Amino acid sequence: MQVNVKKNELKDVKDEILAVAVMQEKDSALPFPEITKNMRKEEFEGKSGQIYTIDTQNKLSFKKLLLFGLGEEKDFDLDYIRRFAGTSVKYAISLKSDSVSIAIPRISKAKNTNSSINSNDVVQALAEGAVLANYKCIKFKSKKDDYFEVKTANIIANANESGDFENAIKRASILANAQNYVRDVNENPANIATPQMLAQTARDLAKKNNLSITVFEKDDIKKMKMNAILGVNQGSALPPVLAILEYNKDKKLPLYAVVGKGITFDSGGISLKPSKGMQEMKYDKTGAVSALGIIKAVSELKLPIRLIAAFAATENMPGGNAQKPGDIVTAYNGKTIEVLNTDAEGRLILADTLAYVAEKKPEAMIDLATLTGAIIVSLGRNRIGLFSNDDKLANAIYGAGQKTFERVWRMPLDKEYVEMNKADFADIKNIGSEGSEGGSITAAAFLQEFVGDCKWAHLDIAGVDMIVEKHAYLDKGASGIGVRLVVETLENLIRK
Ligand code: BES
Ligand code: ZN
Ligand code: ZN
Repeated sequence: MQVNVKKNELKDVKDEILAVAVMQEKDSALPFPEITKNMRKEEFEGKSGQIYTIDTQNKLSFKKLLLFGLGEEKDFDLDYIRRFAGTSVKYAISLKSDSVSIAIPRISKAKNTNSSINSNDVVQALAEGAVLANYKCIKFKSKKDDYFEVKTANIIANANESGDFENAIKRASILANAQNYVRDVNENPANIATPQMLAQTARDLAKKNNLSITVFEKDDIKKMKMNAILGVNQGSALPPVLAILEYNKDKKLPLYAVVGKGITFDSGGISLKPSKGMQEMKYDKTGAVSALGIIKAVSELKLPIRLIAAFAATENMPGGNAQKPGDIVTAYNGKTIEVLNTDAEGRLILADTLAYVAEKKPEAMIDLATLTGAIIVSLGRNRIGLFSNDDKLANAIYGAGQKTFERVWRMPLDKEYVEMNKADFADIKNIGSEGSEGGSITAAAFLQEFVGDCKWAHLDIAGVDMIVEKHAYLDKGASGIGVRLVVETLENLIRK
């Protein structure tokens, strides 16, 4: 989708659709009285998310007016802007209109802040919402006729509005396209997205974005004594991979790392999952694919850092040679792990990957993993579970989440949780308790055993990897949530 900024009076907009946002109470007079004056107040009050569309019947230079409610000013948040743009694009899709014009809403303040909203941020959010709403996964449909994509979104600024809008749109396009890339790769089911296919996807990205890449195959993984990855892989007919991508080799720049969980299908292994909902475990590779999306965006934004993106990928299957409850494996850093539940496999493949990446001594290492069902119990589907051994890093991620609306909530890592992972027959066990008590926290405490003295944060994205309910700018399916969050975090870290 092409996103443009145009300086125009709203009445002079020549397009199929003009979308205008209205703040409840504040904007009591609706725009274009010639067509809105007879509307009853109950029909459109500007309540948050409310939509009203009017045919202009040739009275104006555009054919349809879309009014979108932003709700009350006191509740305002930048995400309402993404929702406004997303709703406008979805409306254009429903009308099979090639283009849509979206007026920049005039907002003075955001919720809980005294600072005024920067108009570049508003334009960026508009462009993000528009690009994200235009993605739909149709690649597995044999008939593509119903599918429609909007070609152009025109963001309408008035003459006295100023800012570096071109740059805001460029940033937004890079970020939203990286998120759409993650959604598109992640939508591939497990018969297509095999570990080898993810490795090839990583190679293709590396080539396109001029990144260096090493893919370790099963024999290399054996030589490197990454037995935790090998243990999880044992029940699968497909070999595992460990992919390491690198952006920028300039040693003067600070090094950061992102690590993702790449389980291409999580059946649970011998500790088999119930069949209901098991198909959703094709998304258990979200962390790995997100790591690719992050390095894609960082390289296109040309951030002045070095970045490693790493993931191990394997299926977790109950084949004849599968790992069994009670098995003991020695991880890359020499720690022994008693595998008491083969369904707690994410922490196993991450153990080897985190220990390996920590050796590179990054300034900070962030992992993304659909790690536990327990995080959905504690935080539902609105916030990502954040765990960290460093307050500054945790705060940078929290702030980035508020801005990108990929919100996080920090969870504890007290030593009592660390104790819960102590094993009878090995150094550590892969479940913290028989039940699921504190399940996300003991999982994070397990990961912490493999990061050495590296500043580290873990994002448990099990609750946000897919969209399950109607959403203003994301379709049902893989969400790609986490990419904008981590890129914003990296930008926060280097700004300070
Ligand atoms: N991939 C799952 C976690 C998950 C659950 C992701 C639901 C998305 C939605 C993970 O590997 C897993 O199975 N975790 C177990 C851990 C338990 C055995 C300690 C869980 O959450 O039940
Ligand atoms: Zn599992
Ligand atoms: Zn899993």
